[in-house]
Amino acid sequence: MIEDLQKLEKDALAELAAAAQEDQILGIRTKYLGRKGLLTGLLRNIAQVSKAEKPLFGKRCNEVKELLHTRIEEALQRQTRQKKDDILIKEKIDVTLPGRSVKYGRTHPVIQIRGEICSIFASFGFSVVEGPEVELDYYNFEALNIPKDHPARDMQDTFYIEENIVLRTHTSPVQVRVMEKVKPPVRILSPGRVYRRDSDVSHTPMFHQIEGLLVDKGISFGDLKGILTAFLKKVFGEDTTLRFRPSFFPFTEPSAEVDIRCVICKGRGCRVCGQSGWLEILGSGMVDPAVFKNVGYNSEEYSGFAFGLGLERIAMLKYGISDIRLFFENDIRFLKQF
Ligand code: FA5
Ligand code: MG
Repeated sequence: MIEDLQKLEKDALAELAAAAQEDQILGIRTKYLGRKGLLTGLLRNIAQVSKAEKPLFGKRCNEVKELLHTRIEEALQRQTRQKKDDILIKEKIDVTLPGRSVKYGRTHPVIQIRGEICSIFASFGFSVVEGPEVELDYYNFEALNIPKDHPARDMQDTFYIEENIVLRTHTSPVQVRVMEKVKPPVRILSPGRVYRRDSDVSHTPMFHQIEGLLVDKGISFGDLKGILTAFLKKVFGEDTTLRFRPSFFPFTEPSAEVDIRCVICKGRGCRVCGQSGWLEILGSGMVDPAVFKNVGYNSEEYSGFAFGLGLERIAMLKYGISDIRLFFENDIRFLKQF
């Protein structure tokens, strides 16, 4: 019996030394120390041991039991430590690294400019209104004196939802929507998204405009020029070079487009300004009597001016950005500079 016990101890320790996994170690515990385990079995047969040997056998059994208990515990602890080390090595967790900071988003440069422009015009007494992006052909074209076959439609080709419903090509339809609802005087600003069949370094199929409209008694082209000049100098600085260039819009008469000296090439000519040295940023003019007639205003009594500016163009000039498409690529490296 003593020999059996010695063999058992030797086997158990050998098995334990070879056990690498937690479940193997637990298996060994059950095999030897469990209720139906081998050591328990030996103890149960103590009756077969001679009287003289009994005390020694009992003592040895307890020693073996103690020893196995301790060794199994140690093996389990080693196993747990090993598992942690394995994770640290395998997954390369460097516990000495500092934590990762939360990255805060920020306002898109176009939306920043929108806020700036709205507050400049708020200081001139303009209030902000919004209009729909999906617009009736009537408001986008007809009411603005652009009939179905008018060549001015070619420059503002757009996306048609139905024959008479379009994605608006400019914010000018808001002029009509506002004038239909309120009597003069009117002094509004309307920012929003617009859509066109356009795409190159200075044109995107979706871009932002801000419309301005001022109607009152005795408003002249001088007021238009004064307000727009004051506004542009506030945005770009007092020493800004700008020019009013005669132009045509069916809904204003006379009309002018305003260009700013190209900041990318400082007027020398580059691909952004089409080698002209100037970049067009807005269209403007005195509201055409035909538009007043469409909304029921008396053009003998009232006059006014309107303008529509491209927000991306202003942001490009202000920040020296040479490709308008950067605004919509959502590249964090670009966006976080503003
Ligand atoms: C208009 O859209 C007129 N509604 C402006 C207007 C309003 C005139 C009120 C008179 C009275 P235009 O098509 O030129 O005009 O566009 C106005 C501005 O939008 C341009 O000066 C330019 O800055 C910008 N723009 C035009 N097309 C694009 C485009 N595809 N991508 C980015 N900006 C554009
Ligand atoms: Mg234009």
